[in-house]
Amino acid sequence: MTVTDGEKRDRVASRLLKSSAEKFFDPEVDMDWDAPLEDGKAWLPEHRQSLYGTKLWDKLTPEQRIELGKQELASILSYAIYAECWVGMMFLRSVTEGDLIGKRSQYALTETGEEARHSTMFAQLLCKMGVEPYRQPKFLLYMFRFISFVPLGPFAYGSVMLVEEILDRAQREAMNDPTIQPHVRQVMRLHVMEEARHIAFARDEVRRGMESRGRIRRAPHRFFLALQAFGVFPNLVHPSIYRSVGINPLRGFIAARRGPHYKANLQYFCEPMARFFVDVGMYEGFLTKKLWRMSKGLPDDLI
Ligand SMILES: [Fe+2]
Ligand SMILES: [Fe+2]
Repeated sequence: MTVTDGEKRDRVASRLLKSSAEKFFDPEVDMDWDAPLEDGKAWLPEHRQSLYGTKLWDKLTPEQRIELGKQELASILSYAIYAECWVGMMFLRSVTEGDLIGKRSQYALTETGEEARHSTMFAQLLCKMGVEPYRQPKFLLYMFRFISFVPLGPFAYGSVMLVEEILDRAQREAMNDPTIQPHVRQVMRLHVMEEARHIAFARDEVRRGMESRGRIRRAPHRFFLALQAFGVFPNLVHPSIYRSVGINPLRGFIAARRGPHYKANLQYFCEPMARFFVDVGMYEGFLTKKLWRMSKGLPDDLI
């Protein structure tokens, strides 16, 4: 008996639903929020900070580097909350516009619940750090309202991957780094555990979505994903963070973009995802390739 594509997708969703029931966390229980922060510990690995290796970095004192890392982490956590809210909105749409009660809908609801817990945990960490969140500009928040019109499919799930896979790669490295604040490492460990499922689901949807479309129908998905990658990467770190160490935001932003490690770090964060996108046909077409190259996230051997 042949198994239909729908049945295969349901099997993936069933497997992930089982995993969600077996392996999950609750930030109220699995985080020791009362434990004090450790003096002198970093918030992010130095070599992954945006100004690392620049002349501006050389002028900073060790304390300023730690402070900048704290603000950079605050910016990434704030961005992650926005992104997870967006993922939740998209998943809820996949339920209402989908079959409502099938395995994929059940999994979409479960993943939405997990993302809500993650964002709660990120908010708790920001409160523990004693920093203000970095808000997105008003016009972008208005753009959020148009998310309801973005067609579901490879572009939508690929956009989810853009944030999830970059964070995953960064967190897997930092969570094992003993120089980082214990609270941050534990948040990363918990997040990575559940995101592995999310990435598996998004990858499966992107692969199947691309396979089921012909050349013409694939084109807008891959173009808009490349456009999104081009826009998202510079946005992860809010330029206002540089003010915390007396650096003009524009100057800091330009220095980071031109820094000797910007491209290498971005390529490191993007590598598994970029290889996957090439493999499923997301990296095709003149404009798409140009945008990916301009985004600097693609490993050199794929260009
Ligand atoms: Fe998450
Ligand atoms: Fe996720």
